[in-house]
Formats: sequence, C-alpha cells, structure tokens
Amino acid sequence: MLRLVSVVGARPNFMKIAPLIAEMRRRPDNIEPILIHTGQHYDESMNDSFFRDLNIPMPDLNLEVGSGTHAEQTGKIMIELERPLDRLEPDWVIVVGDVNSTMAGALVASKLNIKVAHVEAGLRSRDRTMPEEINRIVTDAIADLLLTPSPDANENLFREGIPPAKIQFVGNIMIDTLYRSLERARQSDLLRRMGLEPGAFCVMTLHRPSNVDHRETLAGILDAVRAIQQEITVVFPIHPRTRARLDEFGLSDFAAAMPGLVLTEPLGYIDFLSLYSNSRLVLTDSGGIQEETTALAIPCLTLRDTTERPITVTQGTNRLVGSDPERIKLEAFAVLKAGQPRTEIPELWDGKTAARIVDAIEQRS
Ligand code: UD1
Repeated sequence: MLRLVSVVGARPNFMKIAPLIAEMRRRPDNIEPILIHTGQHYDESMNDSFFRDLNIPMPDLNLEVGSGTHAEQTGKIMIELERPLDRLEPDWVIVVGDVNSTMAGALVASKLNIKVAHVEAGLRSRDRTMPEEINRIVTDAIADLLLTPSPDANENLFREGIPPAKIQFVGNIMIDTLYRSLERARQSDLLRRMGLEPGAFCVMTLHRPSNVDHRETLAGILDAVRAIQQEITVVFPIHPRTRARLDEFGLSDFAAAMPGLVLTEPLGYIDFLSLYSNSRLVLTDSGGIQEETTALAIPCLTLRDTTERPITVTQGTNRLVGSDPERIKLEAFAVLKAGQPRTEIPELWDGKTAARIVDAIEQRS
C-alpha cells in the first residue's frame, strides 16, 4: 500500500489536485491518499467554493497558516507541516504548481527523506522577481520526480542539469479538470444572473504583485480598461490582494464609475469557466488562465512581459502585452476586430494527465 500525501494551499492548486485525488481514490487497493491544506488561502471565495465545485474531499489536516510576508508564510507552513509529515511517514509527498505552499511542502518532505513528486515541473518565466519563479526553481531542484506539462519544461530541466531519469512528460493536469467541468459550466446560470450575452463581453483578472502593488501600474491598466469598456463590457472578478490595493491607492471609485466595467467578487471554478468560455477576450496576469483559454480557443492577452507557459503563445491564443496602457488598448482593439483565433491544443493536454501521474508514481515506488 502506497501512502501518498498531497499538499495544497492556494486557489490555483485546487484544480490541479482535484483530478489526482479522484484518480488515487480509484485505486484503493494500492493507494492511501491523504490531503493536507496549508491554509494559505482561506476566504470562502478563494477556497471553500473550489472544494465544493471540484468535489475535493475535506482535507485530512488544515494547517491554517493564513497570510503573511513570504518568509512568514513559507516558514509557518514548514514548521506546521514537519511534525504531521514525520508522523505520517508517507511514501511520497505530491506538490503542485508554484505557490509558497508548493515550495514549503517540497522542502519539508525532502529534509525528512520523503520522496517528492512535483506536478507542473519545469516551467520557467526567467523572471526571478516573480515569487513563483523562485518557488519553481527550488521545488524542481529538490524533487525526486518532475512531472512536466509540456516539452519546453523538459528542456528547461535538462538545461538546469536535472537527471533525465527524474523527468516525465505527463501533460497538463489543469486540462483534466477543465474538460471534466465543461458540461456543468454550460448549465451555469451565471450569464443570465449577470445580464451578459455570450460573446459580448471581455473578462479581466489581475493579481500579480508586479501589476497591482504599484499605484502607477495599476492606474495605467485601469486607464486602458476605461477605453475598452466604452466598446465592450469588461467583467472583472477581483482578487482580495487587488481589492485591497484599489482601496489603498484610492482607485476604487475610479473603477466603480466606469459604466461598462462590471466588478464582482472572485468567482467559483464553474462560474468562472462559464464566464470566460463565453467571452470575446480575456485580459489576465494569471498563469493557469493562459492555458485554459488556449484549450478553449478564447483569445488571451497576458498583462506581463514574460510567461512560464510559452506554448500558449507558440501554439495557442495567448499574446504577451505587458502593462503599458497604450499597448493593452491597441492589442485589445485588434483582437476585438479580428475573427475567431486559431489554436492548437498542445500535446497531452488530453484530460488523461492524472492517470499518467499516478501510474508514474506507482511505477517508481
Ligand atoms: C498566491 C500565489 C500566486 C497565485 C495566487 C492565486 C504565492 C507566492 N503566490 O498569490 O502564485 O497566482 O495565489 O490567487 O504563493 N488574501 C485574502 N484571502 C485569502 C487569501 C489571500 O484576503 O483567502 C489576501 C491577503 O491580504 C493576502 C493577499 O491576499 O495577504 C495575498 O495572498 P497570498 O497567498 O500571499 O498571495 P496571492 O497574491 O493570493
């Protein structure tokens, strides 16, 4: 019997762990799955609603670390995780993505000599000012099994000298969740509730510190939005970090005064899928949304200068536009004028990644 502990903490972890837990539960003769939540995200809209939407079982343990500086949050997770992991003696610890909980989980496990599997290994933005880039590099340096979503990730890891025997290309786990959820998203009444017509609105999400933590940058992005919302409705579900910065910088009233800008709380997984899959254009600084829009052939403008997911640009619908207001406007209007974009679904983004991951762990145990 393999005891596999999965560690999750923040919103973008949940859609990655859901299909893995389901797959592990399909193999009860061989696998005992245990789920530990660090508590990095804790609001109903950032946490509980995802567990419900994605049918993730209640965590076996919640460390309830909450928010803090990077050192505080990472340190707290490490301290709170050490004893339970030591007591549980799992065969593997599985970490996903690139958030602080990912790196903290990998560090604690590897120091206890527990094998670490990293799902979504090998992605690199080459921008070390991004906290996630540090988390990716550290996690990949100590993981025993690096499960990659795309061939570029394998290349990155080879270049960093990771032994090829530790690396396995398994495809994109988020797409498992995406495909499984499409039917429920079609049944969502979100558009009706919000008074939106399919294809007649854009969606924006924004939460990267580089975009929202400086007044000038955030105000510039809002300036671009002011022009876009005069042409087409823009729906903006606001991350708590961004909401706090808008208030702090005195920009909330400016945003609220735009008639074509619809501000909402963060949405659950199914409602958000229903929203962007019916949109004309997505403006975002998220990582996962770049992939989801590529899989669904929805145009995506990424408000960053780099991406750790280059395949969404070379094969999919994504374009990097940075945070310059003029460029954002120009690119957005160009997309609105153009027809349906072409997309090529990257290799192994086929909805079967969870099974390949659990097979890989079983084979190496
Ligand atoms: C984290 C991840 C980021 C991911 C994002 C998705 C890291 C380094 N960053 O960023 O990669 O894209 O999640 O959401 O791990 N807050 C709440 N309620 C919550 C959670 C957070 O109000 O449930 C507020 C707090 O004021 C907190 C701030 O948001 O200080 C930032 O939260 P934090 O977990 O530090 O980082 P995110 O910006 O959410």
